[in-house]
Amino acid sequence: MDLKIALLPGDGIGPEIIEQAVLVSNKIAQRFNHNIIWKNGLVGAAAIEDCGNPYPDKTHKICLESDAILFGAIGDPKYDNDPLAKVRPEQGLLKMRKDLGLFANIRPTFTFPSLINNSPLKKERIEGTDLVFLRELTGGIYFGEKGRKDGGETAYDICSYTKQEIKRLAKKGFEMAMKRSKKLCCVDKANVLETSRLWRETVQEMEKDFPQIEVSYEFVDAVAMRLVQWPNSYDVLITENLFGDILTDEASVISGSMGLMPSASVGEKTSLFEPIHGSYPEVAGKYIANPLATILSAAMMFEDAFGLREEGCAIRDAVNESLKSKIVTKDLASNGEPFYKTNEVGEWIAINL
Ligand code: IPM
Ligand code: MN
Repeated sequence: MDLKIALLPGDGIGPEIIEQAVLVSNKIAQRFNHNIIWKNGLVGAAAIEDCGNPYPDKTHKICLESDAILFGAIGDPKYDNDPLAKVRPEQGLLKMRKDLGLFANIRPTFTFPSLINNSPLKKERIEGTDLVFLRELTGGIYFGEKGRKDGGETAYDICSYTKQEIKRLAKKGFEMAMKRSKKLCCVDKANVLETSRLWRETVQEMEKDFPQIEVSYEFVDAVAMRLVQWPNSYDVLITENLFGDILTDEASVISGSMGLMPSASVGEKTSLFEPIHGSYPEVAGKYIANPLATILSAAMMFEDAFGLREEGCAIRDAVNESLKSKIVTKDLASNGEPFYKTNEVGEWIAINL
């Protein structure tokens, strides 16, 4: 099978973790007789340096012409520390999500038995956790009108949602719940926010189309608390953009390292696969970052974008083997235990596929 993949390494540790995912993907393609056609594109700070635009048309075209996108990370402290910067790397990611219609961000959280002691949370609380967030990705406060008034002394960001935006995300949540434990949690702040009341109303209306699904409605502040207390009481959670951003970072702590969790963004035109962590610019180029979240994102890509289950499973098995054999980066090594470089972990997994 021909697999056309757009490769967007992005900023910071993006290039070095993407390199490992490419190595692993090429190896799996070789083993299963696929032909991957990679096309590189610039995004984020790397693209600003090149042409002043964090999501150039050229990159958009590469994405549109591909069957899937593999993306590293975005962000550079040069822009974070300059509140007056006119262009920012993150605008590239937001524009890419919007222009490609990637409205649903699928972010699983699970534990690895061999890493159960790596989590700062107690083992008996997190054992067996296997949940998935569906975060709305192209609406809400991220994309509402924003600005300053009163000579710059007042700032605002408007949060708005249409029923149609809520429906298409919730539909994916119901469908995913059908394939899993038939439990769906709608996370909102309906006691305060009008947008949340529309979310709740819309999801309630949809319940009749999915009578097998048990739906619960919880406030985001309560979920933030229960997520670290009883993570395995959740299965599929749907929520709006900003709540989803915050809760999925929180949830990543359960697995033991931010460097472990993959994600997929799906929608209208194509799908994008990326680790949920950021660009970690402090260590860029040092090859100490954990490549597993990106390698696991590649596994999701084989399964979700191309329907290649066996290939995805083979990657996941090799990742599990690397953990069991303790071929891990510094973030996962126990005190005094040896640890390996980003590329050593990537190469080990590729060889053991
Ligand atoms: C994420 C990131 C992005 C977001 C940033 C880099 C714009 O934190 O993918 O979770 O806030 O969506
Ligand atoms: Mn985030």
